[in-house]
Amino acid sequence: MNFKLETERLILRPLEMGDAEGMFLLDSNPNVHTYLGNKPVKSIEESIGYIQNIQNQYKENGIGRFAVILKETGEFIGWSGIKFITEEENNHSHFYEIGYRFREEFWGKGFAYESAKAWYDYAFSGLNITVLYASAHIENAGSRKILEKIGLRLKNEYIWNNEIPCVWYASK
Ligand SMILES: CC(C)(COP(=O)(O)OP(=O)(O)OC[C@H]1O[C@@H](n2cnc3c(N)ncnc32)[C@H](O)[C@@H]1OP(=O)(O)O)[C@@H](O)C(=O)NCCC(=O)NCCS
Repeated sequence: MNFKLETERLILRPLEMGDAEGMFLLDSNPNVHTYLGNKPVKSIEESIGYIQNIQNQYKENGIGRFAVILKETGEFIGWSGIKFITEEENNHSHFYEIGYRFREEFWGKGFAYESAKAWYDYAFSGLNITVLYASAHIENAGSRKILEKIGLRLKNEYIWNNEIPCVWYASK
């Protein structure tokens, strides 16, 4: 992966091993995992494994989630981006999905929307995909707001993993 995206306040670049500490700060917070199955990580090794997994996706799929860096301070504030999903979900497989996750101290400042808008534009102008999907916990009002604001449309409700009530969005 050798490209990055830039928005007014953010740099979106490939994840690096040096992001492990930031990833651990992000994923060890139970509040971040409220709508993600409530399984925050317990050790930095898990975060390192997570980064390795995404780096493998860069090689295999040519895309994966990117680190979000705050221009003003150079800090890792979360991740955002497009993932190629091969597993089946809501009767789809082998599709591109947009997602994001931010450290709690950076919520409510418009960063998730700012990054998601950049990825939405890149999906169609850079990756040249025909349709972009997303899913969220049905009660995840913040995430749903962002998906709708970038222009995705609500398609249906479904249960993910026999457990989590979700909503499914698509660009068309
Ligand atoms: C969901 C999440 C990404 C939102 O990030 P954020 O940076 O706070 O979102 P933004 O500031 O860009 O907000 C965009 C819009 O959503 C609204 N919003 C954000 N959080 C909200 C919430 N909890 N309830 C209602 N609206 C919310 C904002 O008010 C804003 O609306 P506006 O455009 O009318 O002003 C963040 O809370 C997070 O990382 N949560 C944990 C991980 C997660 O749930 N990821 C999504 C999985 S599907």
